[in-house]
Formats: sequence, structure tokens, C-alpha cells
Amino acid sequence: MRFDIITVLPSLLDSPFAHSILQRAQNKGLAEIHVHNLRDYSTNKQKSVDDYPYGGGSGMVMQIEPFAACIEKLQAERSYDEIIYMTPDGETLNQKIANNLSTKGNMIILCGHYKGIDQRIRDVFVTKEISIGDYVLSGGELPAAILTDAIIRLIPGVLSDETSALSDSFQDGLLDSPIYTRPKEWRGHKVPDILLSGHEAKIAAWRDEQQLARTRERRPDLLND
Ligand code: ADE
Repeated sequence: MRFDIITVLPSLLDSPFAHSILQRAQNKGLAEIHVHNLRDYSTNKQKSVDDYPYGGGSGMVMQIEPFAACIEKLQAERSYDEIIYMTPDGETLNQKIANNLSTKGNMIILCGHYKGIDQRIRDVFVTKEISIGDYVLSGGELPAAILTDAIIRLIPGVLSDETSALSDSFQDGLLDSPIYTRPKEWRGHKVPDILLSGHEAKIAAWRDEQQLARTRERRPDLLND
């Protein structure tokens, strides 16, 4: 799966994909991430990509032409299943959306800045608008990195133990149960006996109970969906 991320701050995305699972996914050829500098598609000498808003108001608006030129260049080279705009007024990202996107082919991700992008880019090119939560960040780069991470770890073969994505929090609509490793006792705090019992069925039942209890306590909204 190929991700093409269009941004005015490409260096902000140098690091998030260069470690751990995301780096391994790229090394294995399961994911390709390409970051494009929107300024390379500017139509003027100053390399600006924004302009004043029609109708007045504060803040600048990102122009159509640089985005259109970059998107159309990419589309001429290969096909894309989704063109996603990261924006606080999009659909809030959750595991279901990440699961769905992990089954798709190539995608282009647009990162906004300033007041946002000209509405006509959204109308003409964008197929999905995604928010990472009800708060506003300075730009769409960190949200794009979060979305890309959430998708890539779900691509079959990316995680060495494939079941571990399936047992993630949210994958079954519930939060995860508590987990422990050695030592058995630390400053008087003990690992629950059941986990040391070696009784697989009882351990599975305990984990189910814990998941339900934790979800009921912390995220009752997940149980009502
Ligand atoms: N850009 C700025 N804030 C954002 C958010 N919460 N989600 C997605 N993109 C954004």
C-alpha cells in the first residue's frame, strides 16, 4: 500500500515513519510512504501556497492550484482509492475506520495549515475527511502520521505476531485487559494468581471479564454503540 502525503512541512514527517513497526513495514515492501512538498507545486516565484480569504476574515487559505497540480501528477502515475484530507471537521478516526482503510489500495493524504484549504479542493478531489479528535493542531502532519500508523500496523504481515493486531484495544469494541510481566511481585503488588495458573480457559475468561469491566468503567459509550 502506498501513501502519498502532501504538506508544506515535509521535514515534520522525516522521523515518525523511520522507526520500529512502520520502518519494518517499509523494509518488507508492505508499505511505501512518499512525502511531497506542496511548495514545489507553487505557481509563483516566492513559492507561496496560500492567499487571503474571499469575504475577509482572519488567517490565510491554502490555494487550489498547488494541491491540484500535485494530486493530478500523482494520479497520472498510478491509481488511488482514497484522497483524504486531515481536518478537525472530519469524521473522528476510530479503529473501524482504520480497519476499513487498511483493506484499500493507495491513498493520498492532504495536510492543511493556516485556516485550511480552499473548499473546492475538498469538493473536487477529497473522498474522505478525517479528524483525530475534537481539538485543533497547528497542521495536518501529525494527524496524517497518526492515521498512517493506525492503518499500516493492520496490513497483513506487518506485525510479526498477526494475532496481536486482532487483540488490540478496540479491535473487538472493548478496551484491553490489564497485562503483566516479571517479576511476580513488585513492592508488594502481585500479578493476579489466575495468570500464573496455566489454566488457559480460565485465563481467557478472566481477560474477557476484565475487558468488559474496564470498558464499562472508562468508556461506557463503547458498549452502547
Ligand atoms: N488539523 C488540525 N487539527 C486536526 C485534527 N484534530 N484532526 C485532523 N487534522 C487536524
